[in-house]
Amino acid sequence: RRHLLSAADLSRDDAELVLATAQELRSLADRPIKKLPALRGRTVVNLFFEDSTRTRISFEAAAKRLSADVINFAAKGSSVSKGESLKDTALTLEAMGADAVVCRHWASGAPHRLATAGWSRSCVVNAGDGTHEHPTQALLDAFTLQRHLGTSSGGLDGRRVAIVGDVLHSRVARSNALLLRTLGAEVTLVAPPTLLPYGVESWGVETSYDLDAVLPKTDAVMMLRVQRERMNASYFPTVREYSRRYGLDGRRMAKLAEHAIVMHPGPMVRGMEITADVADSDRSVIVEQVTNGVAVRMAVLYLLLGGSEPAIAGVPEAGG
Ligand code: CP
Repeated sequence: RRHLLSAADLSRDDAELVLATAQELRSLADRPIKKLPALRGRTVVNLFFEDSTRTRISFEAAAKRLSADVINFAAKGSSVSKGESLKDTALTLEAMGADAVVCRHWASGAPHRLATAGWSRSCVVNAGDGTHEHPTQALLDAFTLQRHLGTSSGGLDGRRVAIVGDVLHSRVARSNALLLRTLGAEVTLVAPPTLLPYGVESWGVETSYDLDAVLPKTDAVMMLRVQRERMNASYFPTVREYSRRYGLDGRRMAKLAEHAIVMHPGPMVRGMEITADVADSDRSVIVEQVTNGVAVRMAVLYLLLGGSEPAIAGVPEAGG
């Protein structure tokens, strides 16, 4: 069984195959029939121990567009509240015949445990584990970057991406740093010293504390939410002090090159890391990131579950 647990699992060829498959699948949105039979008879379980809007719904939409059966499991309202373990939850899902388990968990490493402990024969997809990784977010971000900034080879060679904010608690930052480097981009992490992880230099990225200096040199700026829920209350910065140094407002956005785009994985805290006028501006690709997330997650499920090729053969063209 194959799994997707970390962006580091993906070679450049792997990542490019996912992105090319997603590109093919995205064109379905413009066709009269938006559903494919590729995963008919397969079961995808969304196993969510932590809240989610975008990831859970887009995996559900992705699985349904490939004709898989979908079971949504949220820890809230389940027997997890009675003390049931991850192992027993996994065994229960296995007994119900899951082919793929999409797992979000507050504990870093939980999807890896699920994949390797021998409790289940399902493919496991990491949908965000603690402060560790969120590989499908990185794939949808790379897909969005390719659409706007792709090189003639289709890669991201030499493109400069700034990831700004609470890097310390961000699984999105880690997965993006890994994947963007694999695809040839140059990554700069911009954060206050207290929100950069110890040893971050080993990620192969540049670091800076000075957002104003980095913005003119970047092709894309990816803003991160300050993850209050993972912080000790004593060092949570005030909105005012944080946004003054690290928030993206209209004045700062004007420092970007004309072609540069603004990204955010969501959920956003408007007024903290990004102002409403920037989030809603024509530089922002934040809503498009969500749309792209469905195509990318379709590609991941399709490739992991061995859908027959080609992905969209026989689907009528628009107007056809
Ligand atoms: N970007 C992201 O993972 O959003 P959700 O927490 O809403 O899934």
